[in-house]
Amino acid sequence: MQRTGRIAHRTTKVAGERVAEGQAVLILLGGANRDPAVFPDPHRFDVTRENAGDHLAFSSGAHFCLGAALARMEGEVGLRALFDRFPDLTLDGAPHRRPTRVLRGYDAMPAHLSPATVDA
Ligand code: HEM
Repeated sequence: MQRTGRIAHRTTKVAGERVAEGQAVLILLGGANRDPAVFPDPHRFDVTRENAGDHLAFSSGAHFCLGAALARMEGEVGLRALFDRFPDLTLDGAPHRRPTRVLRGYDAMPAHLSPATVDA
């Protein structure tokens, strides 16, 4: 998820900016995940960074994603199964992004799958 929003319950300041009660605040989670003050060389995909867990992809606070544990497990199980079965998996053409803003992802990612290590 790339962005979310909140309505201020009271007048306050966020990062030095005044936010009035009732005002909507748009939060760019995707931008925060590439903050160079938190992640050195932020555009480099590296899940082994010491602070990799500091990302906000599942948000934070009261509305932290209820499905985060399930999503992490799905990623771990699914990606492991994919790469175990197709260790030589490579891209076979340019991936294409869905034209969406909040939920970013691909609607097409051509891949070369063979050879499979086990029969289906
Ligand atoms: C990679 C997968 C997922 C990502 C990146 C993701 C991301 C997020 C984010 C950023 C929020 C918070 C939005 C906010 O702060 O306004 C959220 C909320 C939520 N997510 Fe997920 N999510 C994922 C998968 C799932 C799954 C698998 C489920 C359920 C099975 C789920 C259920 C929910 C629910 C119910 C909320 C609302 C929590 C609340 O408002 O208190 N999510 N998710």
